[in-house]
Amino acid sequence: MIEVIEAIEKIAIRIKGAFIEEDISYSNTINATGDVQLKLDIKSDLIVEEELSKVYTLKEIISEEKEHILTINPDGKYTIAYDPLDGSSLADVNLSVGSIFGIYEDGISGENLKAAVYVIYGPRVEMVVARDTVEMYKLGTNNKFKFLNRIMLNEKGKLNAPGGTQQYWRAYHKKMIDTLFSRGYRLRYSGGMVPDLHQILLKGGGLFSYPGTIDKPKGKLRMLFEVFPFAFIYEKAGGKAIDGKKRLLDLIPTHIHDTTPCFFGSNEEIEFVKKSYKDEL
Ligand code: F6P
Repeated sequence: MIEVIEAIEKIAIRIKGAFIEEDISYSNTINATGDVQLKLDIKSDLIVEEELSKVYTLKEIISEEKEHILTINPDGKYTIAYDPLDGSSLADVNLSVGSIFGIYEDGISGENLKAAVYVIYGPRVEMVVARDTVEMYKLGTNNKFKFLNRIMLNEKGKLNAPGGTQQYWRAYHKKMIDTLFSRGYRLRYSGGMVPDLHQILLKGGGLFSYPGTIDKPKGKLRMLFEVFPFAFIYEKAGGKAIDGKKRLLDLIPTHIHDTTPCFFGSNEEIEFVKKSYKDEL
């Protein structure tokens, strides 16, 4: 596993370099989910593929930017699913973006997830690695990652990051979000899953939601590349991650690009989501 984490460190350093050196405009291609790709998406995907292909323990790689699974070593042990540059359109306006990785052994399901890692590119580059615990590292001027601290969520937080187009929220979802605000929760939503979930983790807790909406009943965020890795990280940090009712890591994708409604948070907020969604869906 350490060889996979070391490859992710190299990827982070190269993607950070790409922000300065590369053209950040849109390309004329679309990815597997139908999003128009930025040239930076294509470059980041190339960097990730190049570095991961050198890791002998990796059997398969699955990219958010690609239609199919790529076998790199039939004798390898792990499958890694990744989003090379999540929220990449925010790079355009100089906001934080991130890379997300989920490392599976013996098949791609929540229970086979052995580790999850994300890298956040902001004023600093930080990497968060979840195995039995959740640990944060910071990239130094010597281009080495240094351990900073362990991350644990409080039982209850103060932040609320509500995703999805409000025009299409269902009435019970709107009521739930409004109730949190009426209880003093503060709005923190940048539109980048990595920085939005990172902020909640580091500030002790709260709720990030991306619900099923009238226009997108299955939500927007992808199980393999975004949802499962963060569900794993939140659980290992002492929080919870559900689809409104069920534990996210118990869901089984039928296709590698499947999406699901998702809620990540500290325990008290997730209990409140369950209560609000109990008689709905
Ligand atoms: O999946 C890409 C992404 O940019 C996530 O990083 C983010 O949480 C979400 O989409 C934002 O979606 P919306 O613009 O609908 O709030």
